[in-house]
Amino acid sequence: MDKLVIQGGTQLNGEIRIAGAKNSALPIIASTLLTSDVIEIGNLPHLFDITTMLELLGCMGVETVVGEKLNVQINSSSIRNFSAPYELVKTMRASILVLGPMLSRFGEAEVALPGGCAIGSRPVNLHLAAMKKMGAQIKMENGYIKANTRGKRLKGAHILMDIVTVTGTENVMMAATLAEGQTIIENAAREPEVVDLAHCLRAMGADISGEGTATITINGVERLHGGSYPIMPDRIETGTYLIAAAATRGRIKVKDTRPNILEAVLSKLEEAGAQIEIGPNWITLDMHGQRPKAVSLTTAPYPAFPTDMQAQFTALNAISEGSGSITETVFENRFMHVHEMNRMGADLRVEGNTVIFRGVAALKGAPVMATDLRASASLVIAGLVSESETTVDRIYHIDRGYECIEEKLQLLGAKIRRLPS
Ligand code: UD1
Repeated sequence: MDKLVIQGGTQLNGEIRIAGAKNSALPIIASTLLTSDVIEIGNLPHLFDITTMLELLGCMGVETVVGEKLNVQINSSSIRNFSAPYELVKTMRASILVLGPMLSRFGEAEVALPGGCAIGSRPVNLHLAAMKKMGAQIKMENGYIKANTRGKRLKGAHILMDIVTVTGTENVMMAATLAEGQTIIENAAREPEVVDLAHCLRAMGADISGEGTATITINGVERLHGGSYPIMPDRIETGTYLIAAAATRGRIKVKDTRPNILEAVLSKLEEAGAQIEIGPNWITLDMHGQRPKAVSLTTAPYPAFPTDMQAQFTALNAISEGSGSITETVFENRFMHVHEMNRMGADLRVEGNTVIFRGVAALKGAPVMATDLRASASLVIAGLVSESETTVDRIYHIDRGYECIEEKLQLLGAKIRRLPS
């Protein structure tokens, strides 16, 4: 397994370009199953999870042609089977996103039931309850979700989500585009990636309104058509580099991003002492060489502070001036990075779903292990601010969600290299 070796203590300075959003690209790739026409997706990030999603479609008989300009053409007219196998689903829970589109267009779908993962049990009960309400018959057999509409079209329904779920909202939204009648999703996720998917579906001919609010209305249409759609920039990648720069007391500019979808993160960075400037598609952050101040925060669904930025902000707080608390309300067990940071000399204490922290002047390098995608990024940040060498193991998690992380950090002056296994 590859490792990242980081020699800490260098300020990050310079400019980088942000890639397309992983969490937009995944549902948008799944949405191509809704039409037999060709869809071209642009600004595709170069990530393991994207390869997994394309592979998943490929094993169903979908043709994909990856271009040279971050684009891919997807043609699902030749689909042969409706099954998402365990071998792929186990590596990426977002595979569940093929359930809604397949059920809606073909009336049947078989998706391996995703298991738990490092950050919690992560059930898909709300996805399944919604599909049932839309008329699907669902049974569990040999670890697979087997869904069928018995030859009928799915029916529009009133779906009240008990919990705000991002992929749950996306699955229902996609299923509803080809259903008979109107679907209303209440307590829908308002994440920008849900909005991006709605824009893509609309470009394919879907009748959707209310995306970005808690109530999304979809009027089913007979068919969707092809077209092209560029993926929006990745707000989590953007935030990760900004936090890394703040932690090292540096100054960076991130380009090809969208400042207006990062308000909660930018305001916390300002609270930490960063000077932030924004343009239409760029953000600059300058710490003026100062140590960050401690910032307390609570994660919650968008537009509040994202759970996907919690681990990285924990790294920033670990070396901040002062003390505070970080509360996680979205996932039950998302503090695995805390124990690794304590091994590097941090003063972090987990109490229930809260981390109580007291900032220390510097961390010490250590061999650490990545347990999930964002935790891995937080350990890289911790390595960048440690006094000696840090080795981050199991970095396949990072490659799932960060495009060429060591190259981008090297561009900013970091001393980081990949040790191939
Ligand atoms: C998505 C993101 C992930 C992010 C998360 C929360 C993608 C591909 N992934 O994951 O990066 O961390 O949103 O912003 O977009 N839940 C249930 N039953 C369900 C569905 C969810 O109880 O049927 C619970 C989950 O266990 C969790 C909470 O709802 O506690 C939110 O999870 P959800 O928004 O569904 O996360 P994902 O869509 O899997």
